[in-house]
Amino acid sequence: MVEIIAIYGSPRRDGNSATLLKKAVAGARQEGAHVEEVFLRDYKISPCLEIYHCIKTGECAIRDDFPKILTKLESSTGIMLASPIFFYSVSAHTKIFMDRCQSLWVRKYWIENQVFGEGTETRKGLFISVGATTGKKLFDGAILTVKYFFDVLSAGLWKTVLCRGVDRKGEIENKDEYLTEAFEAGRELARVLQEETEERK
Ligand SMILES: Cc1cc2nc3c(=O)[nH]c(=O)nc-3n(C[C@H](O)[C@H](O)[C@H](O)COP(=O)(O)O)c2cc1C
Repeated sequence: MVEIIAIYGSPRRDGNSATLLKKAVAGARQEGAHVEEVFLRDYKISPCLEIYHCIKTGECAIRDDFPKILTKLESSTGIMLASPIFFYSVSAHTKIFMDRCQSLWVRKYWIENQVFGEGTETRKGLFISVGATTGKKLFDGAILTVKYFFDVLSAGLWKTVLCRGVDRKGEIENKDEYLTEAFEAGRELARVLQEETEERK
């Protein structure tokens, strides 16, 4: 069965990005994928403390909830990540989680000496984001961050669903085209991953 992790990065429960991600989750489940939902706001995760204990073992020394999510992440071939735009980047909850994955970066590029850009992509990533304003560059900063975060997980940035002009909670409900786009992205991700699984058999 296709395993997907859906990471909710907003501090706001049932906010705009969460609504879109729930649609994507529903789409993937409709295609038969198993989707594990992770609400970052419900986990206790310290920021990276840059002590680099991970240089020795590739594992982070901080004892908190991070490894619980890592386990789910490692068993997934699909990654759905949703974050609102906060000051032209991802939310703090999302960024803290990403920074803790530096232990994976260390494992990949320092311990295993992999060459950047030459590894195989074993996962696919979907990034969902929302912001209040409507500028052309609204998502540029976040997309760059997500792209390099996904690289650490050997995932390509497979697709994005990006909705401008939503601010107050619930405003996304008026954006039918984005709700449909997110649902279809979820379905498509599950389908593509399933096809790849069958090709490998
Ligand atoms: C701390 C903070 C920073 C924000 N920064 C931006 C920003 O730089 N650009 C923007 O368009 N909207 C910004 N917003 C608005 C949110 O992106 C917007 O309200 C979004 O719909 C929230 O999504 P959510 O409901 O999934 O949390 C900011 C909101 C907060 C709380």
